[in-house]
Amino acid sequence: MDKLMIEGGHRLEGSVQISGAKNSAVALVPAAILADSSVTIDNLPVISDVDLLADLLREIGGDVTLKDQTIKINPATMMAMPLPNGRVKKLRASYYLMGAMLGKFKKAVIGLPGGCNLGPRPIDQHIKGFEALGAKVTNEQGAIYLRADELRGARIYLDVVSVGATINIMLAAVRAKGQTIIENAAKEPEIIDVATLLTNMGARIKGAGTNVIRIEGVESLSGCRHSIIPDRIEAGTYMILAAAAGQRVLIDNVIPIHLESLTAKLREMGAEIDIKDDQIIVGGIRDKRGVDIKTLVYPGFPTDLQQPFTSLLTSANGTSIVTDTIYDARFKHIDELRRMGANVKVEGRSAIINGKTELQGAKVRASDLRAGAALIIAGLMARGVTELSGLEHVDRGYEHLEEKLMGIGAVIWREQMSEEELEEVES
Ligand code: EPU
Repeated sequence: MDKLMIEGGHRLEGSVQISGAKNSAVALVPAAILADSSVTIDNLPVISDVDLLADLLREIGGDVTLKDQTIKINPATMMAMPLPNGRVKKLRASYYLMGAMLGKFKKAVIGLPGGCNLGPRPIDQHIKGFEALGAKVTNEQGAIYLRADELRGARIYLDVVSVGATINIMLAAVRAKGQTIIENAAKEPEIIDVATLLTNMGARIKGAGTNVIRIEGVESLSGCRHSIIPDRIEAGTYMILAAAAGQRVLIDNVIPIHLESLTAKLREMGAEIDIKDDQIIVGGIRDKRGVDIKTLVYPGFPTDLQQPFTSLLTSANGTSIVTDTIYDARFKHIDELRRMGANVKVEGRSAIINGKTELQGAKVRASDLRAGAALIIAGLMARGVTELSGLEHVDRGYEHLEEKLMGIGAVIWREQMSEEELEEVES
């Protein structure tokens, strides 16, 4: 097992190319199950979550070729094989296999998903949707069993605005009989991306990106080619990192409108940000002003950028308050930031950051994907060397992380962990 070594204090400058969106990719790959012929997806991020999903599609009989940023999925030979255990438990997005397999085969057995531990992450709204479409859903020994004689369109009001439930219900509904209406739907750009793929496959979907999505079920779907939108969370991570330790960093291949909430907050802190058609240029901030943020559903400030932003705020003057209204326990990075010298405390669903503090390199551990990103940013700002373990989380979501960081002047490398360190991590 490796750890990431980060030598702090280097000014970052240059440009970084943003990959395809992870949270689109992990839904688009399972969506291909719904087609009757080959689906090709381009601009795929090279991350371990995508590898896992490709293997899961092979497990159910799919012919899958994954090469660099392109995946070709021929679903013609797929079967409704049960997936109660194994890889399916390693990632959160395996829940999309429920909607896609239910939509295609009218049955599925999928182990309850794993993924980042951000506190309770129920899937009751997904299940409510499947049941409304006519499926019988049971939980048997940690696996969800779904069966339906036929799926019929329904009007479904989501009690909680959920990205996963909105996409999963779309997947199950596109081949159902009649009309489905999802009310109080999530509006994230990744939902529009999934709707675009499904529409290109022949589905009839209106309103994706608004809070009411209307779907007219169709008999069958065919293959197509699709290119994934840029990853707004990866782009946002590099924007924060540039504000934290950069001089002038050009973030290339982005959709700037997807990052408006972050851009506004960085400007409030004193950052100079230049927006072009598909590029954002972030200058470093000399004298950072503390700001408060509250995470909200899109287009509000994304919960996925809350952790990286907290690291940045340790270097801002005054007190800043970060409140996560989506995941109130998404604060596992705070103890690690404290280890590096930050003055932060957690009160309920808020982190209170007293700045500014100068961080010191330390041995820290990523408990989840974005905690990893937060600690890398902290490491880049800190004096001395930071040793980050828990890289399996980071590799789930950031393509070519070290290469991209080295490209803008970071001093960062991987080293194998010693026996002693491994024991420490496992205990
Ligand atoms: N929720 C319920 N019931 C449900 C579903 C969700 O109560 O049935 C609650 C959740 O507990 C949470 C809120 O609703 O409090 C929003 O959850 P959502 O369903 O939107 O999250 P998700 O679909 O499980 C996706 C991303 C997350 C991202 C969230 C919020 C994927 C695979 N994951 O999760 O991404 O934080 O939306 O935007 O798309 C990440 O990339 O690091 C990550 C964790």
